[in-house]
Amino acid sequence: MESPFKIINNKDAYDSLSVQENVLAIRSLKAEKNCLVLCHTYQRPEVHEIADFVGDSYGLSMQATKTRHDRIVFCGVHFMAETAKILNPEKTVLLPSREAGCALADTIDEQKVVEWKARYPGLPLVLYINSSAAVKAHADIICTSANTLKAIEAVDSDKVLLAPDKNLYYSFQPKTSKTIIPWEGYCPVHKAITKELIESVIAQHPCAVVLAHPECSPDVTELADEVLSTTGMVDFVRASSEKEFIIGTELGLVQMLQRAHPLKQFFAVYNHKSCDESCVCPYMKAITLGKVRRSLEDDVFKITVSEEVRMKALNAIQKMLSLGRDK
Ligand code: 13P
Ligand code: SF4
Repeated sequence: MESPFKIINNKDAYDSLSVQENVLAIRSLKAEKNCLVLCHTYQRPEVHEIADFVGDSYGLSMQATKTRHDRIVFCGVHFMAETAKILNPEKTVLLPSREAGCALADTIDEQKVVEWKARYPGLPLVLYINSSAAVKAHADIICTSANTLKAIEAVDSDKVLLAPDKNLYYSFQPKTSKTIIPWEGYCPVHKAITKELIESVIAQHPCAVVLAHPECSPDVTELADEVLSTTGMVDFVRASSEKEFIIGTELGLVQMLQRAHPLKQFFAVYNHKSCDESCVCPYMKAITLGKVRRSLEDDVFKITVSEEVRMKALNAIQKMLSLGRDK
């Protein structure tokens, strides 16, 4: 049967169509192609509309283990789609934009991880999920912001390597008796949430509860009432009777919380003077509805992982999935 939707040859032009038109076309393509759409909380609001599941890195990985669909379109960044492919080698996993990388994941590659591990023979590597499959293949266990402490406690050693985000070390070293040796990586989006910026938002909203992601710098997390993964923040807000929240993470989550709780107020941490988008991840925002539509129509861009890398990375990911969340 001929598609009721306009097929455009210049696929970038889909982004000039209305949200409603793209949403309807994508819903129809999802059904036709038996496709699951997984979406990270940081995605654009209109991308959330076509998702089957919205969550954090841990929740998205769990969902990827449960699907019976033939295809997964991953509205997130490359390492997340790779994780879904590792868990579903027989399925087609698509990432709608080639630009959807992760600056934090890029701070370590296979050669660097091999050299680093060689300096600490026998120490287990607890590896944050924000890393490539090739690096994951050298990990003992994967963790996300939702279960870093559990992963550190799960390995059989009182000294552990933790990569690539050094800010996780600052958040979790005080919570464990183990010695953590950190890699020097960071997320530039969370680094842009500075102490000065969050202090100025706190000064404007002194009654607000302050929530920060563990990727924020230690001088920011120490000002927070709670340090939580993105889903940890969603759960905290849902259970709280407070009315105002300062959200120390990417803008997409702030917008998602505001949509879900219209009677509460959420404040992002912007750098208003020089840039009004300091808490926006450009990699997450690379995915647009037009690109999702193109991805479904043309089966682009396919994620591939070699079987050798996949088997090693799978072992470390499965250990992480069996842990559950810290809280
Ligand atoms: P979550 O694990 O909390 O989803 O965070 C992923 C991420 O990329 C944060 O920058
Ligand atoms: Fe990577 Fe930072 Fe963007 Fe998360 S917010 S995807 S860690 S660059």
